[in-house]
Amino acid sequence: MTDNPPAPHSNCLWGGRVERGPAEIMAEINASIGFDRKLYAQDIAGSRAHAEMLVATAILAREDGAAIQRGLSLIEAEIGEGRFAFRTDREDIHLNIEARLAELIGPAAGRLHTARSRNDQVATDFRLWVRDAIDRLSALLRGLLAALLDQAQAQAETVMPGFTHLQVAQPITFGHHLMAYVAMLERDLGRLGDARARLNECPLGAAALAGTSFPIDRAMTARALGFDRPTTNSLDSVSSRDFALEYLAAAAILGVHLSRLAEEIVIWTSAQFHFVRLSDAFTTGSSIMPQKRNPDAAELARAKVGRVLGALTSLMVVMKGLPLAYAKDMQEDKEPTFEAAQAIELVVAAMAGMVADLVPDAAAMRAAAGTGYATATDLADWLVRVLDLPFREAHHVTGRIVKLAEGRGLALEDLPLAALQDVEPRITGAVFEVLSVDSSVRSRTSFGGTAPVQVRSQIEAARQRLGIMS
Ligand code: ARG
Repeated sequence: MTDNPPAPHSNCLWGGRVERGPAEIMAEINASIGFDRKLYAQDIAGSRAHAEMLVATAILAREDGAAIQRGLSLIEAEIGEGRFAFRTDREDIHLNIEARLAELIGPAAGRLHTARSRNDQVATDFRLWVRDAIDRLSALLRGLLAALLDQAQAQAETVMPGFTHLQVAQPITFGHHLMAYVAMLERDLGRLGDARARLNECPLGAAALAGTSFPIDRAMTARALGFDRPTTNSLDSVSSRDFALEYLAAAAILGVHLSRLAEEIVIWTSAQFHFVRLSDAFTTGSSIMPQKRNPDAAELARAKVGRVLGALTSLMVVMKGLPLAYAKDMQEDKEPTFEAAQAIELVVAAMAGMVADLVPDAAAMRAAAGTGYATATDLADWLVRVLDLPFREAHHVTGRIVKLAEGRGLALEDLPLAALQDVEPRITGAVFEVLSVDSSVRSRTSFGGTAPVQVRSQIEAARQRLGIMS
């Protein structure tokens, strides 16, 4: 342990009571400037709005307000141009900016913090940051949705096997498969929008926890910062982080969806499946095996999602034990959120690139769709429809036919009619119309089904809803 440095501790903005500076290790655990400098633009915007409001309500003299605005502009330029000296002994972004303001404009700087606390200040800054993160992610997500819609449209007729338990189940189209992700991501976009709407209330003016005795105008600062309204309870304002949790939860669910797509791309690009090919733009070679094309971007997308899930868990755990109102634990809200935002934005962008890049091997997909007796359900449905068998009996008859085909090493459609009639004498040659993968896919015209006409109409409907035209 280090000894405390000697008093007086002049750099400390809350230092009136303080006789000695913090222990070195205290300064280290306490400081957040290493990461919360990311909030500088939001912090300056919040201070500008606050100072304007203080002038408008005659709490702050006009000249002092003008000096503060001037100083904040200088600081914004210094930080923007990389000329600002961030100091760990000034703890966090709020104190770094305020101390620099004092250096630039003198004592008027000390009036900026009237009717404000770092508690409502950081709550405001962080909401603004998360709001921007939601907007960035939503825009990226729309880009991925556009790529998926384009591929789905191009592949609306491309037959592939649909799987359950990763076993060939029934033929579907690749377009239909991709549209499943459009459905998931459209909900993700909705979740982000819902989170944004709830987030968009301004905590500024809650002060430390109890509000303030100054005649502030909270509606004015809320408006200036693009919030819909001020928050309604000062304790909640400084002690809640569910806006960040909602963002992380939406990002985590989105991440789970994208990780599944990434996993499918890994499977599809394997030599055994050979369903899709990614170009050199999204694969790497092996340093020893010249034939390899590794889907690294998909693998990393799949892995990076772990960071997002971890961030959600971290912040949940930080918050779950805290009594109201603010506690310093809450300073730990930022790093996981920043890390998750960076990861999920990268993942969405990489997935958009891969979806646009991938080229299906239609022949390999079609061949796979024809294996594993994928049209057995079509045969059973035919027995129900044409011979009026109860479905359970049709299922049984079909099972016997599949067994027969397996024994002879033939596909269903290659069995002779006589062999089918050995199992069920009323079967006619008309049955062969439903046994091909194309007829199977074309027949599934129920709403939301895999028939190309359905898929095309679902693509069109999604384009309309999302306002993403081809
Ligand atoms: N750096 C702090 C945080 O991020 C700012 C708020 C500090 N408030 C306090 N009462 N110490 O949470």
